[in-house]
Amino acid sequence: MEKAEADKILDQAKEVLAHNDRGLWTVPAGDLYPHQWLWDSCFIAIGLRHLDIERAQAELTSLLRGQWENGMLPNIVFSEGLEHRADRELWRSWVSPYAPHDVHTSGITQPPMLAEAVTLVGQKLKLPERRSWFKSMYPALVRYHEWLYGERDSHREGLIVLVHPYESGLDNSPPWISELRTHSLPWWVSAIERARLDGIINRFRRDVRHVPPGQRMSNIEALAYWSALHRLRSKAYNSQAILSRPVFALQDLAFNCILVQANRRLSEIGKIIGRHLPDHLSENAKRTETALDELFDETSGQYFSRSFTTHKLIEEPTIATLMPLYAGSIPNERAEQLVGMLKNKRKFGSRWPVPTVPLSSPYFNPFKYWQGPAWVNTNWLIIEGLKRYGYDDEANILKQKTTQMVAQNGFSEYFSPLDAQPAGAANFSWTAALTIDLLKS
Ligand code: GLC
Repeated sequence: MEKAEADKILDQAKEVLAHNDRGLWTVPAGDLYPHQWLWDSCFIAIGLRHLDIERAQAELTSLLRGQWENGMLPNIVFSEGLEHRADRELWRSWVSPYAPHDVHTSGITQPPMLAEAVTLVGQKLKLPERRSWFKSMYPALVRYHEWLYGERDSHREGLIVLVHPYESGLDNSPPWISELRTHSLPWWVSAIERARLDGIINRFRRDVRHVPPGQRMSNIEALAYWSALHRLRSKAYNSQAILSRPVFALQDLAFNCILVQANRRLSEIGKIIGRHLPDHLSENAKRTETALDELFDETSGQYFSRSFTTHKLIEEPTIATLMPLYAGSIPNERAEQLVGMLKNKRKFGSRWPVPTVPLSSPYFNPFKYWQGPAWVNTNWLIIEGLKRYGYDDEANILKQKTTQMVAQNGFSEYFSPLDAQPAGAANFSWTAALTIDLLKS
């Protein structure tokens, strides 16, 4: 991209972030997402570090406002104000004795991007400041990783179990929808579906007031997601109680790949400040790297998420298929197979990559949220993964296409992978922040 064009995009991206800035943290998109989200703020800080390092640090320390006493980092820290009361009431974090008292949060987590974000922000600081930055974040990170393994991998399989699709960050991704449809649709939701009464639910949905309904999940799926949330709440978000019987839960591929890199970053941070990661965390980190292998399917040559209930792989290829590149712990031959899929025109090699499901998937719809559109955050993760395996040309091509897609169409939440048409929320923070990072790194 020409320098003048890049400068123009950078200015526009800064404007988007300024517009969504709430002082010490940033909302993903004013109307649709008016709170602070966990992985959003990590991506936002990765971009902000190029503009204002202190503000980038504040973005991440603000996340710790929401950390629970047991170490959990919630996917949402809610905004104050009467207009947001319904959101806080939906989650009722106060049902758990571990929730913070001074802010309200959700009761579930999101992909563990924090150690990566802390590291990348730290890289912009001189060594003494970097050390104090790392020292200030390390205890919270250790507690978070301890919570992940202690609560969500109690059988020590090395793979974290997610108890709600929102924890994956890829809300309506096919493995979750398929698991829902085959094992976890509550009887009363099926009854509503059969009676075709789901239309009334539109009144309760905020997303479809801001975004065309065809881009989001169906009312039946939304209702089942609400029911799953309700169950978690009724168990006070206690993982042991939640997982005591077969439930709507997955060992999610993308989450666990992100965790592999997060563990690596956490141990690097520890080394820089002269602390050894607790032994159990180092052992768990190794276990996760090895356990990824269990998600590999020899026949199709790719990785999948696994059902918690049946322990079977859910053979639905999605954007998560490419995330083992980001994990960086898989053998080179397998990485090569994934790069082949990325380039394959029937799979992920669309004109405007990377589609969130392969073009050949029966789920594919160019506008439907995590079932087709290209997203800038998943492109960023794949670019990092490609670089890790030495595919620099492929990484550069994807970087150029991603910044071009944004330059031509604005800072949308997601884009059609066929013609780059923008969709979802406009002025979306991580699209702006990661575009800055791609242009500046
Ligand atoms: C949607 C996305 C999720 C994101 C959130 C806020 O729920 O699926 O990944 O964190 O919006 O932007």
